[in-house]
Amino acid sequence: MAQTTHYTELGLVNTREIFQKAVRGGYAIPAYNFNNMEQLQAIILASIETNSPVILQVSNGARKYANSAMLRGMAKGAVEMAREMDSQIPICLHLDHGDSFELCKSCIDSGFSSVMIDGSHLSYEENVALTRKVVEYAHPFDVTVEGELGVLAGIEDDVVAEHSTYTQPDEVEDFVTKTGVDSLAISIGTSHGAYKFKLAEGEEVPPLRFDILTEVEQRIPGFPIVLHGASSVVQEYVQLINKYGGHIEGAVGVPETQLRQAAKSAVCKINIDSDGRLAMTAKVREFLANNPNEFDPRKFLGAARTELVELMKHKNETVLGSAGKA
Ligand code: G3H
Ligand code: 13P
Ligand code: ZN
Repeated sequence: MAQTTHYTELGLVNTREIFQKAVRGGYAIPAYNFNNMEQLQAIILASIETNSPVILQVSNGARKYANSAMLRGMAKGAVEMAREMDSQIPICLHLDHGDSFELCKSCIDSGFSSVMIDGSHLSYEENVALTRKVVEYAHPFDVTVEGELGVLAGIEDDVVAEHSTYTQPDEVEDFVTKTGVDSLAISIGTSHGAYKFKLAEGEEVPPLRFDILTEVEQRIPGFPIVLHGASSVVQEYVQLINKYGGHIEGAVGVPETQLRQAAKSAVCKINIDSDGRLAMTAKVREFLANNPNEFDPRKFLGAARTELVELMKHKNETVLGSAGKA
């Protein structure tokens, strides 16, 4: 299928300029995942209120859940909503963890302004070849591409949570040169989901591998770096979920101080999904427990949306430093 919608028709931007500014300015742009209207409204409202550039992030799972045509329409609506509110914040629509050329192509063809091709589970050579192929398709449309080197550690997978899964700094220069990617996701100790670290009683969260980040920065100075798995797993939400009937044990995330430190470096995109999921679940559970007669979804989803706005404003202002940078 030929390209049907270019992202500029939807009022979106790619990541090139916003990343350059973020690297130079020592802050990171939030990449928030969305699957439904309330999440998207919250992302846009928080971004407008903090005057922050924003990356709307869509996973393959989100595409299956919400339908790709629906998501494109929602992203267009999000831009229109911002402009109607007199905000000119840059808004990017990005594919999160694209796992094939075909998926990336389909997103580029349907109006995404940026895609991630995640070849991190492949051999180095296969990762280079796949990433290069996506870049060659994307760049003529001025769509930017994120690649990944190093596999994120997983708590379910602690056998591979060793040095070998961290990004190897001696590969990054060759990778970005051979592939032509616009940004690079690296593995320095974060992981996806709400269970990022297995801690013994009283044990502190271990620091991220800032030594690897520093070496990467030395090898490819000024090149935009991306941090996945960057939710802090806000304990207040975990407690609320458990208080109102949930059962989430041992959930731990990346401390905000460490994210702040990363944001000041070449890390210019920080991916956050789990914190939004926790906030939403906590507020829906709390609302329904306290209002057993209520059955209007606008009430409990509205409560969740209000909390999401506060959470994202806090992140933009205090953690990522993107507030006021639009
Ligand atoms: O990195 C994964 C994101 O949190 C998206 O998750 O595939 O469940 O939509 P998902
Ligand atoms: P979290 O699970 O830490 O929110 O990470 C999200 C992410 O990396 C999406 O790509
Ligand atoms: Zn991710």
